[in-house]
Amino acid sequence: MKKRVLVSGGAGYIGSHVTVELIQAGYDVVVADNLSNCDLTCFEGVKKITGKDDIPFEKIDCCDYDAVDRLFSEFRIDAVIHFAAFKAVGESVAEPLKYYRNNLVSFLNILDASKNHGGCNVLFSSSATVYGETDVLPVTEQSPRQPATSPYGNTKQISEDILRDTVKATAAYGAEVMAGMDRQGPVKGIALRYFNPIGAHPSALIGELPRGVPNNLVPYITQTAIGKRECLSIFGNDYPTPDGTCQRDYIDIVDLAKAHVAAVARMVEGKMKKDYEIFNVGTGRPVSVLELVNAFEKVNGVKLNYKFAPRRAGDVTAIWADPTLAEKELGWKAVRTVEETLASAWAWEKHLAGKA
Ligand code: UFG
Repeated sequence: MKKRVLVSGGAGYIGSHVTVELIQAGYDVVVADNLSNCDLTCFEGVKKITGKDDIPFEKIDCCDYDAVDRLFSEFRIDAVIHFAAFKAVGESVAEPLKYYRNNLVSFLNILDASKNHGGCNVLFSSSATVYGETDVLPVTEQSPRQPATSPYGNTKQISEDILRDTVKATAAYGAEVMAGMDRQGPVKGIALRYFNPIGAHPSALIGELPRGVPNNLVPYITQTAIGKRECLSIFGNDYPTPDGTCQRDYIDIVDLAKAHVAAVARMVEGKMKKDYEIFNVGTGRPVSVLELVNAFEKVNGVKLNYKFAPRRAGDVTAIWADPTLAEKELGWKAVRTVEETLASAWAWEKHLAGKA
């Protein structure tokens, strides 16, 4: 029988790419999304790419426990991938309660329902932001976490801890231990710490759909290139890096999605070495903002209007992953080049503009 994966936030940018890869790897998927930060564009794209018209879609808010509980009653769920969360760093500083309430309550509900329905495998969508500013690069999973610099980042750290504690507390749950409460079962967990996901599916049918002015670099670049924005501001050129601009580890969205498939397989096939595991999902390759801009111009043959601007508050100078553990344990490695990824981002922007 096919294993079934519940993808919360599955209509969004990362969720839609992961849904495609799961289906193509032979999983059944249930998508749950409240559409608070996206519409059904990407979900429709997922159906086209996979040729599957009957992917179950549940419009629910994971902050509603009863709705989550109903899903677990309706479907036999072998694993959950939890993406449903707010993700704008600046907004989280202005509205911390909104972020703590949404990001934590939804995850608590997913974990509670997982535990209450006989146990489940839970994959949490974490972030390299948990490492903060560090001089020791690249970062491994053992690198110490630094205090979060935003409520958004804090929700990632707290959620990792909640998952760790839940896994520990439920490890012994089983029919004999919890006599009379035999529907409760163990939760096993993996946290994937993403570096900077960019790009779009090679079909250009799904990609990032930022609402309003983009916060992140690549959508800002593509929107500037297409003429929706006048000029890209490069935030800071006086950092202690080779060219003075920040360095990040840009990970292709399809590569990132495949890491989820590998992690789900590890969980459902009983191959985890510990009940709670953490993996970096990055390329191991630092790229500066200026290098990324130059690569975009070159690979797509477009000229980008940009200027240097003051540093952006809260940005770390440089961060990139040591992806060795994921390679060894998940058998996963990023394969797409930055050029391929930037070409896919541009193809998606043109698709959106109806020019492709
Ligand atoms: N940048 C610019 N101009 C822009 C936008 C970004 O120069 O218009 C620069 C930033 O200063 C940074 C780099 O591009 O040096 C990357 O910025 P992004 O906003 O694309 O990504 P971040 O590294 O800030 O974001 C990552 C993750 C987030 C996470 C955040 C936490 O993508 O999900 O780290 O700090 F929340």
